[in-house]
Amino acid sequence: MSISGATHDHLERVLFDEVSILARLDEIAERITKDYADMPLTVVAVLHGSLIMMADLLRRIRLPLKMECISVESYHGGVESSGRVKFNMSKMPELTGEHVLIVDDILDSGRTLEAIIGKIYEDCVPESIKVAVLLDKKTSRVADIDPHYVGFEIDDLFVVGYGLDYQGKYRNLPFIGTLKPEHILPEHRV
Ligand code: IMP
Ligand code: MG
Repeated sequence: MSISGATHDHLERVLFDEVSILARLDEIAERITKDYADMPLTVVAVLHGSLIMMADLLRRIRLPLKMECISVESYHGGVESSGRVKFNMSKMPELTGEHVLIVDDILDSGRTLEAIIGKIYEDCVPESIKVAVLLDKKTSRVADIDPHYVGFEIDDLFVVGYGLDYQGKYRNLPFIGTLKPEHILPEHRV
């Protein structure tokens, strides 16, 4: 794929291009459409990272679903999960009686999703909770989280694009890749 333009030049390597991502979302959406037929489905986006995936995935699901958002922070600007998950919202969505599908960009330690699922069960009585992630860093897992829908498994690399950020940037890249070291702060380089 040809990469041009200022932000695009910051990437060292593209791991998943736009065509591959969208083709994978077609497959996942097809499975979700079958799995949740005739069920009250609420898809919950974990902001901000899942926004781009959410928009592409939901438009491929052929069901009368509802959409909610949960806003959390877990990386606090670095390249490693801090283990502290902060909820940036005054009120949880009402999910009692719903089959809940949580959508996140990437599953790393699993602490973020563990905290979100715990909070949902504290506040609501959902029929079920499942997880869909675009990327799964399986080897980094600390919490006991098993995603039901996974786009791609990746090694323990820090990636940006297609919703994923470094210091708030790069979410708008239509593909996913690793950053050149010169665009990572010295204290974050591994
Ligand atoms: P976990 O709590 O360690 O599973 O981290 C999950 C969250 O950390 C994701 O929702 C992302 O926002 C962020 N994250 C994890 N790995 C990466 C990465 O490689 N690039 C950008 N953000 C990441
Ligand atoms: Mg996130």
